[in-house]
Amino acid sequence: ESVAAGPAGVERPAALVNLREFEAAAWERLDPVFYDYFAGGAADEITLAANEAAFRRRALIPRVLRGQGPPRLGVTLLGQEASMPVLLAPTAFHRLAHPDAERATARAAAEAGVIMIAAMLSTVTIEEIAACGPRLWFQLYIQPDLEFTASLVRRAEAAGCRALVVTADSPALGRNERAERHGFHDLPPGMYCANMAEGGHVRQVALSPEISWRHVDRLREMTSLPIVIKGVLHPGDARLAVEHGADAIIVSNHGGRQLDTTPASLDRLAPVAEAVDGRVPLLLDGGIRRGTDVVKALALGAAAVAIGRPTLWGLAVGGQAGVARVLALLRRELAGTLALCGAATPGEVTADLVEEVASLR
Ligand code: FNR
Repeated sequence: ESVAAGPAGVERPAALVNLREFEAAAWERLDPVFYDYFAGGAADEITLAANEAAFRRRALIPRVLRGQGPPRLGVTLLGQEASMPVLLAPTAFHRLAHPDAERATARAAAEAGVIMIAAMLSTVTIEEIAACGPRLWFQLYIQPDLEFTASLVRRAEAAGCRALVVTADSPALGRNERAERHGFHDLPPGMYCANMAEGGHVRQVALSPEISWRHVDRLREMTSLPIVIKGVLHPGDARLAVEHGADAIIVSNHGGRQLDTTPASLDRLAPVAEAVDGRVPLLLDGGIRRGTDVVKALALGAAAVAIGRPTLWGLAVGGQAGVARVLALLRRELAGTLALCGAATPGEVTADLVEEVASLR
């Protein structure tokens, strides 16, 4: 698909110069019901707003005249190389954004050399996604039916996924009132959770309060893949994750879609980092929209970040080319920010580069 293609009245991906413009262009193009499902957060959307605000009120204090070479953005995460410390967070139902669905997202991620965390609730199967892109992790909602969970794990392994991401912050589904107002409860006809299809029917997904660290232990026995716990905000849970064999932690409030009035995920990075004390790498998602945001997260202790909604906006605007453009813009901003901060690599970003200051409130 050419980046120049696009229906009348909709911006071409190549003409958009930042991730926020992608959101505006996606709003113009998407069915309002699907836009609201993607954009919305839980309840009063206090956490949703806080995620972005937390980046705004932190300042970058650059170092100058360091004479470093050109920025090198590559990182290794859980033994896997990525071209930059930005992953695609797992988001459900890409087909609501574009008919090519997760295939387009995976192709764009592969082309950009970034890791895509494929959502269990995808609209094409994990096998089809894997056929489109090699750098995949698989996100799992552990199902109380452990046999079925094990079958998903085996499929993810066979498809070549390199890590399992257990979403821990969803013992119940968060209430998105925007979607509810539209009466959006089910996927449109012809769309379904492809990984859950069994013979002629589609299995019900359980977001169950029964799931506990005991299930994580069982998962640990089921697989030798690295296990990542996603949705940790409390230092106590970060310690438990390490004790239960987690290989990485994603500090996340699910993009403000689960429990409203949790703090911004960025505000939880330092306390979680202190609890983990370098034993496992930390990732962060929630509100990343700029290269400066990525650098702030790195400074506060993240090894990498993930983006949720911006991927969906890219997909809605231009399919694979749209996601590719979103990643290219973020890469360019990240490289520029590193250079302006006097850091040549993500690893050279130090805590003293970030400060909360009154002038940015
Ligand atoms: C999500 N997220 C999510 N997380 C997860 O573990 N499993 C899932 O199925 C989904 N589905 C999902 C759908 C949509 C539409 C959104 C916007 C988000 C949460 C996601 O992984 C991530 O935590 C947030 O999206 C990060 O915040 P930003 O980047 O969207 O601000």
